[in-house]
Amino acid sequence: MRNRYYLIGYMGVGKSTWAKKWAKASQLPIHDLDALLESRLQMSIYEYISTFGELAFRKQEREEIQRSATLEGIIAVGGGSPCFYDNMDVMNAQGETIYLHAGVGFLSERLRNSTVAGNERPLLKDLDVDMYPEFVGKHLLERLPYYEKAAHRISVEKVDVLESLLSLTRPYIK
Ligand code: S3P
Repeated sequence: MRNRYYLIGYMGVGKSTWAKKWAKASQLPIHDLDALLESRLQMSIYEYISTFGELAFRKQEREEIQRSATLEGIIAVGGGSPCFYDNMDVMNAQGETIYLHAGVGFLSERLRNSTVAGNERPLLKDLDVDMYPEFVGKHLLERLPYYEKAAHRISVEKVDVLESLLSLTRPYIK
């Protein structure tokens, strides 16, 4: 059995939420690469990017993906990780990748709500919330070729996400 599942997708699509629900229903262990990175760096990602810049962060993120070869279960991955270095190939070699997809309207709205609630993402910090649809539209288009390298794609606006996720693991759960 494949025992390592990487949940990838754009910021705000709900990777952490679905990872938690999937882990609970499948009883598989759960990991969050951003959280693991923060604990290794002893710093929040927001703080790390503000201090050292995005490229330094991408290097650290790459190392975290390589380290994840020792983890088992469901792994939620930061939105940009698949789009740098050969991270997508590494994840495809180390486990099964699942791309959670949503359209620009859905993502912009989710990100707007999250920013208004005080959870500001480093990549959006200099951007007015009214500009999110333009930003997300362009950014998602740039990232799609990487996301599309995933072994599976789930459109979160169209299907029962938990059921789709469980169908990937059900054959292995006793
Ligand atoms: C990023 C997404 C974030 C985090 C960092 C960069 C990105 O994770 O890794 O802020 O480049 O899309 P989430 O997708 O969990 O927000």
